[in-house]
Amino acid sequence: MLFIWFFLFSYMSTTCTSLDSLAVSQSIRDGETLVSAAGIIEAGFFSPGSSTRRYLGIWYRNVSPLTVVWVANRNIPLQNKSGVLKLNEKGILELLDDTNNPIWSSNISGKAVNNPIANLLDSGNFVVKNGQKTNKDSILWQSFDYPGDTLLEGMKLGWNLETGLESTVRSWKSVDDPAEGEYVIRIDLRGYPQIIEFKGSDIKLRAGSWNGLSTVRYPAATHLLLHKFVFNEKEVYYEYEIINRSIFSVSTLPPSGNGMNFYWTTQTSTRQVISNGEKDLCDIYAYCGGNSICNIDGNIPTCECLRGYVPKSPYHWNKSIWSDGCVPGNKPNSKNSDTDGFLMYSRIKLPDTSSSWYNKTMNLDECQKSCLKNGSCAAYANLDIRDGGSGCLLWFNTLVDLGRFSQWGQDFYIRVPASELDHVDHGNFKKRKVEIIVGVTIAGLIITCVCILIIKNSGAARKFYNKHCKNIQRMEDMDLPSFDFSILANATENFSTENKLGQGGFGPVYKGTMIDGKEIAVKRLSKKSGQGLDEFKNEVALIAKLQHRNLVKLLGCCIKGEEKLLIYEYMPNHSLDYFVFEETKRKFLDWHKCFNIISGIARGLLYLHQDSRLRIIHRDLKTSNILLDANLDPKISDFGLARSFLGDQVEENTNRVAGTYGYMPPEYATRGNFSVKSDVFSYGVIVLEIVSGKRNRDFADSKHYNNLLGHAWTLWTEERALELLDEVLGVQCTPSEVIRCIQVGLLCVQKIPEDRLDMSSVVLMLNGDKLLPKPNAPGFYAEKDVLSEASSSLTNHQLCSVNELSITMLDAR
Ligand SMILES: *[C@@H]1O[C@H](CO)[C@@H](O)[C@H](O)[C@H]1NC(C)=O
Ligand SMILES: *[C@@H]1O[C@H](CO)[C@@H](O)[C@H](O)[C@H]1NC(C)=O
Ligand SMILES: *[C@@H]1O[C@H](CO)[C@@H](O)[C@H](O)[C@H]1NC(C)=O
Ligand SMILES: *[C@@H]1O[C@H](CO)[C@@H](O)[C@H](O)[C@H]1NC(C)=O
Ligand SMILES: *[C@@H]1O[C@H](CO)[C@@H](O)[C@H](O)[C@H]1NC(C)=O
Ligand SMILES: *[C@@H]1O[C@H](CO)[C@@H](O)[C@H](O)[C@H]1NC(C)=O
Repeated sequence: MLFIWFFLFSYMSTTCTSLDSLAVSQSIRDGETLVSAAGIIEAGFFSPGSSTRRYLGIWYRNVSPLTVVWVANRNIPLQNKSGVLKLNEKGILELLDDTNNPIWSSNISGKAVNNPIANLLDSGNFVVKNGQKTNKDSILWQSFDYPGDTLLEGMKLGWNLETGLESTVRSWKSVDDPAEGEYVIRIDLRGYPQIIEFKGSDIKLRAGSWNGLSTVRYPAATHLLLHKFVFNEKEVYYEYEIINRSIFSVSTLPPSGNGMNFYWTTQTSTRQVISNGEKDLCDIYAYCGGNSICNIDGNIPTCECLRGYVPKSPYHWNKSIWSDGCVPGNKPNSKNSDTDGFLMYSRIKLPDTSSSWYNKTMNLDECQKSCLKNGSCAAYANLDIRDGGSGCLLWFNTLVDLGRFSQWGQDFYIRVPASELDHVDHGNFKKRKVEIIVGVTIAGLIITCVCILIIKNSGAARKFYNKHCKNIQRMEDMDLPSFDFSILANATENFSTENKLGQGGFGPVYKGTMIDGKEIAVKRLSKKSGQGLDEFKNEVALIAKLQHRNLVKLLGCCIKGEEKLLIYEYMPNHSLDYFVFEETKRKFLDWHKCFNIISGIARGLLYLHQDSRLRIIHRDLKTSNILLDANLDPKISDFGLARSFLGDQVEENTNRVAGTYGYMPPEYATRGNFSVKSDVFSYGVIVLEIVSGKRNRDFADSKHYNNLLGHAWTLWTEERALELLDEVLGVQCTPSEVIRCIQVGLLCVQKIPEDRLDMSSVVLMLNGDKLLPKPNAPGFYAEKDVLSEASSSLTNHQLCSVNELSITMLDAR
């Protein structure tokens, strides 16, 4: 009995133990593999994807999907399974085909060889070294020096400056073909070293320079990975370390070239994404051209000229074609080291450093002085942001590829002429203390006003500002064209009913034709707004500055006595409800147009929520407030009105609930709580309405009492989501896009506001750039819920109807 056990044990141990090394003249053939000591890594022959060609590679042994981390003969495949790998007496690994031709071999130029052995390590490294008795350091060759498309822990991306050996990461041609693709990530040594992805010789993405903590583009997964950058006389390289020793991490440049994807896995599991490489348009190198800044986290490509610079081609800039960038506002070469000053921008991805100058020991003051001294210096920043910052980076002439994050990034100082220093706008940048108002004398009060403009948020400052600084504000008012009442009355034929386009939440809208033939839309606001005239004008002036291609453009206003009118651009194609809910009109919208409309509304709303300076919550988003231009591109209208009417109690609770039945989320309708997530809810309703062609409000189904949201949710849980799609659209739709829209819609109408997406995620998800989570049940999905919840909470509110579409609940007081 004992004997049998012993026999079994020894039998198992011999078959389960594979070799982890090759000695001289040993070989493995196709079908045989090497396995690292702990069984984590395997090396042998494989065929990638759907290819039948054979490659010698290294992969994780029990991780799915097959995760190949290195390929020897990536450019020269074997056509059949006749390949053999062997180690020759010179310590060279050779891959031979069936005619004994080496099709690949390792390179060990000029090293003394003594009893070599090739060893596959659990790290994924394949190492050829001299035998046991010799020095452990005598590595003759290792696969880690020649990364393919993958960087593992312990691999270096960069340069050995002494030997000139450069390690790069180069994408596969396709998932079926590991041959060298066109994308390569490497460290660019020009100026201050930075990690750059090239497509051929063009820069595709720039991770950015190292700031002591990260390259801003890869602050990825800092709970799992520690990113490192080493830069001394001998070496410049990037590497990462895994913090949790029980996991492995793989980072790969995919064939699409969309930046490094980071994954993690355990020894035997499915690999999981930590972070994807390319995230938004600002990642495209120089997306905004020169001297301008790309607002990264908003995802809308809002490019903005740096202070003191103006669009090179205002025509293109107006059309959101940004690549021309910006040029100095003043005459070129007008830099003046006596009077120029600096403005600080925060949370910046620093511009391309390939023609920068650096000094690792200078402090920020010395850095500023060196910048002033050199006539072509345009900006400076700290090299390392740890411990309050150290080192100095200077840029000359054009600044390329800057980004602004909402949380990452560092301070960046641009040089501006004195004339820009006393012209400080509230909002996007701070002045660096008062000391930088170099040589400019401004009356004390104006300085105070300017400073208060910067810190305008505080209540005391606002009071002071209102009292003493009105003159400055009035100058801002001049930006807003004011229309003469008699001209508007003429244009609309005295606000005749024939010219009435519709009734919005805040008053009727009329079509007008100016004497020169230009068509306008005139909104005549109802008179009950409690807002003062100045407040109203200021608000409208601010809103007029919001510009986005998915917002209706406000052209001006008119105030005469009690009358307040707003003048908008005229939209020839009515509003969205006109198309979506009518069978005869619906055929003008194919799926492609519907998807375009869904995406456009999302971008416009994101702009209102995040990117505009005002952070506007629309509060009455509905299909009749989405207008369509001549190309059927959507434009949100009536934005900002809620704010101008109801003041700026923006995140709290209001007793005056303005909104439209069917689009209001539960917490708003019943308790008056509103936030950006209320708009998100309304957006979700609109998406589901567009997809289904049915109004949430009027939805009826013979089988249940659910409204449209409930119906969509039921279909979703039964995995029949596609049935929600209106048949008219079914013909040419892309099912995956439809499903994505429905899922986004459901994620937006979830009952709990915190669960709902924010608009930046919506935009990313619609593009397919972000994975979609599973939705929870929507709010208000059975009609019964609505009535009971709403009526029980109406005790403090009085329900009154402004018009047939909007309801407003006012405090009973
Ligand atoms: C294997 O492919 C090589 C070319 O790569 C060819 O010369 C050889 O004849 C093939 N051998 C077999 C057994 O098919
Ligand atoms: C081997 O080294 C030589 C010279 O250093 C180089 O030209 C050649 O490309 C290398 N071969 C491989 C397979 O790396
Ligand atoms: C490390 O990773 C494992 C596997 O995912 C996990 O179970 C464990 O909690 C992690 N440990 C720490 C300290 O994060
Ligand atoms: C850009 O747009 C603004 C506002 O629409 C307009 O005032 C300006 O004239 C436009 N500029 C050009 C060059 O088209
Ligand atoms: C860097 O700055 C320090 C301090 O100003 C100076 O001593 C040093 O010479 C500078 N180094 C270079 C390479 O310019
Ligand atoms: C400014 O600095 C650049 C880069 O170091 C240098 O080439 C140029 O000569 C300097 N110009 C002056 C006027 O010092």
